[in-house]
Amino acid sequence: MKMPIRPFLSFFMVAAALSLAAPAFAQQAVTAGDPKEAHKKIAMCEGCHGIPGYKTAYPSVYHVPKLGGQSPTYISNALHAYKAGQRKHPSMRGIAASLSDQDIADLAAYYAASPAGEHK
Ligand code: HEC
Repeated sequence: MKMPIRPFLSFFMVAAALSLAAPAFAQQAVTAGDPKEAHKKIAMCEGCHGIPGYKTAYPSVYHVPKLGGQSPTYISNALHAYKAGQRKHPSMRGIAASLSDQDIADLAAYYAASPAGEHK
């Protein structure tokens, strides 16, 4: 039988496999964060946190911390602190202000589940 699997078909197979695997992941999370949901939200984080050794332009030459492998509580506390203005970094305050509590829980679960070094 010659039925080549088209690229979009294999995409759906991967997506289906991921959605089956996700509930097991979510149960390990401390909060109600869902790492699968975070996949839709990390695009705006990867620009800074996904580049090894990256330093932001504003404020100039500011080192961007690694997120992968940090405790979910730490990540979520940090994001809430930026949102509340207790942490002062201007870029992160802007980012955190746009996140809902659910977004923060999802992102914390996602980054905590990533091995250190895989997602910076
Ligand atoms: C414009 C670049 C930029 C973007 C985009 C960005 N960050 Fe950050 N982030 C930083 C910098 C720089 C710091 C360090 C700020 C500080 O020291 O307060 C930081 C700090 C953090 C911290 C605290 C880490 C620690 O070890 O204290 C967390 C958590 C965090 N970011 C999460 C996120 C998440 C989640 C997103 C996406 C929703 C995101 N960031 C998007 C630049 C960015």
